[in-house]
Amino acid sequence: MEIVILPDPDAVARTAADIIQASLENGHAVLGLATGSTPLGTYAELIRRHRDEGLSFADAEAFTLDEYLGLPAEHPESYRSVIRREFTDSVDFPDGAIHSLDGEAPEPEAEAARYEAAISAAGGIDVQILGIGTDGHVGFNEPMSSLASRTRIKTLTEQTRRDNARFFPSPEDVPHHVLTQGLATIREARHLLLIGLGEAKAPAIAAAVEGPLAAGCPASALQLHPHTTVLVDEGAASRLEHRGYYQYTLQKKPTWQSF
Ligand code: F6R
Repeated sequence: MEIVILPDPDAVARTAADIIQASLENGHAVLGLATGSTPLGTYAELIRRHRDEGLSFADAEAFTLDEYLGLPAEHPESYRSVIRREFTDSVDFPDGAIHSLDGEAPEPEAEAARYEAAISAAGGIDVQILGIGTDGHVGFNEPMSSLASRTRIKTLTEQTRRDNARFFPSPEDVPHHVLTQGLATIREARHLLLIGLGEAKAPAIAAAVEGPLAAGCPASALQLHPHTTVLVDEGAASRLEHRGYYQYTLQKKPTWQSF
């Protein structure tokens, strides 16, 4: 894992956007997109680069990470709607290039299998953007998710439902169930980009990065991946024991070495 501590969320967004831009400039790119608040700054920066600097997504496609079960696709808080509103409708992805899970699929298990096959058919994901839950989830792989899990149904913890209540008219409206890429699915992406912002995420980031590999902190599964970049602001980094080493590593990073 490469741990990159940056002064503030804007610096995190710029660095994340640099990584996505490099992937886009490398030829056909398959992006993995998280929803939630964390990547919004990165998406805003990518939209700005598209508008002001001509950054193009015309040769890219994207897969969202997860979806609420039971929400119609057109519901404003379905992740299919959110990703379009917050990001993809404002850049130039080709028609049909944004793939999402169907939260209303009559057979969710078949939908999960379809999604796995679609990711494989696209050649796998080049860069997967991830946020982290306060309970250490990535995607919606809640604590005690199998480290070998594939896309499937999960039940949200009450903590996650409380955390996400801000997006819904009332806390009871937050769905209980989701479809999410599994931890093994996520780990097949070629580059994982985990973003943590703010002090509320500091315990989860510390457990993911410096804690034991354990189902109790699903994000710790990223320790098994050969190319994970963890981008954190000062708040999210505040519980890291080895932060001095990460800062030293960044200062000494060879100029030829990319993220
Ligand atoms: C969203 C997702 C979740 C969020 C996490 C953090 O697609 O998969 O894992 O990344 O719940 O949410 P925020 O960014 O809203 O704090």
